[in-house]
Amino acid sequence: MSDDKDVLFEITRAHLNTGLRGFPVGTCRTSRVDPMKGVSYVGYSVKELADRDPEEVVFLLHQKHLPSAAELAAFKADLVARSAVNPVVLDLIKGLPKEGHPMEWLGAALNFLGMTGKTGDYREDALNLIARSPEVIAAIFRVRSGWGEPIASEPQRGLVENFVHMLGVPGADNDRLTSLMRTFYVLHMDHGGGNLSTFSGKAVASGLADTYASMVAAMAGLSGPRHGRANADCLEFVRSVGSSDPAVIERFIRDKLASGGLIFGFGHAVLRAEDPRATVQYALGETIAADDDLFRTAANMREVAVRVLKENPKVSNPYPNVDAVSGTLLNACGLTDSDYYTVLFGFSRIVGITAQIVDERVHLRDGKGVAIYRCKFIAENQDRPA
Ligand code: MLT
Repeated sequence: MSDDKDVLFEITRAHLNTGLRGFPVGTCRTSRVDPMKGVSYVGYSVKELADRDPEEVVFLLHQKHLPSAAELAAFKADLVARSAVNPVVLDLIKGLPKEGHPMEWLGAALNFLGMTGKTGDYREDALNLIARSPEVIAAIFRVRSGWGEPIASEPQRGLVENFVHMLGVPGADNDRLTSLMRTFYVLHMDHGGGNLSTFSGKAVASGLADTYASMVAAMAGLSGPRHGRANADCLEFVRSVGSSDPAVIERFIRDKLASGGLIFGFGHAVLRAEDPRATVQYALGETIAADDDLFRTAANMREVAVRVLKENPKVSNPYPNVDAVSGTLLNACGLTDSDYYTVLFGFSRIVGITAQIVDERVHLRDGKGVAIYRCKFIAENQDRPA
């Protein structure tokens, strides 16, 4: 590596076709991912933020400082004022095909929101989208699950409280679900600038597509099993163990590894220690789901899987990530259909992605904005056949 301080990374042929892994491509004002300490938002570790009001953390990511009491009150009132969803959007959601995955419904709903309410101003559309997403996402749950008509929005309750109210999950304890969803929402908001969904959203916005179109792209990125759908796969993985007995878990993990299978919820592209977002959720589980069998399975897996994975020196990170236990907690709180978990991840990630889109479009490069994304692919194997 050159000792020129301005040289951040030297690209060799071996780096090609590795998904830009680790390539510095820009700067990020919202969050930082430290391989050992995990993510922090504008200098605050997620552990410090996990119990804060979700609106405070939305404000932090967008304004780059925590709000004073007066700023927070004004911000909450602003979100309430922005929250009305055009009724056409809810009617269109009712017409979506039930065979579609909830993430496909989310993509469609974002397009409907854009068609009925975009302003074309990145800052305005970011806040409007955050304020309107609870109603739209709750409607996706209710209509697609057959729980009934969308429940009327009461935005003064707060973003997450209103969301849980509008979900109206049959048989759920709303206080418990609210306490989980407040934490879930804060923990999943942002994870640096280079994760696939955020990167895709910013790339599309760099062509000056509007916030809604950019978010459709971001959510398509999130929907893949190697990214946001991993939280659904993790619950199915924990379910398939069939027992919380550590000996059974150990046998299950060893069998999985022997057959070349994945240990869902462990490892991460960037992190090299336990993800603090997992640490917070394990602790929360002990207060809201301590007696739940699946939670006990996930909690025991935390110890067993790490021990077994560490036996292989090639495993660079044997530790749990954000998805290791999130689905188990959602399940314990009444959201039992894992197909919807990625939508919940998206609900939260909208906050960070919109903040980063605004930064790239409005603030960076002295307000000129980041240039249109245009990287280079080396032409290869293109000789005309003889
Ligand atoms: C995460 O939240 O862990 C991600 O979005 C995945 C990543 O950072 O690449």
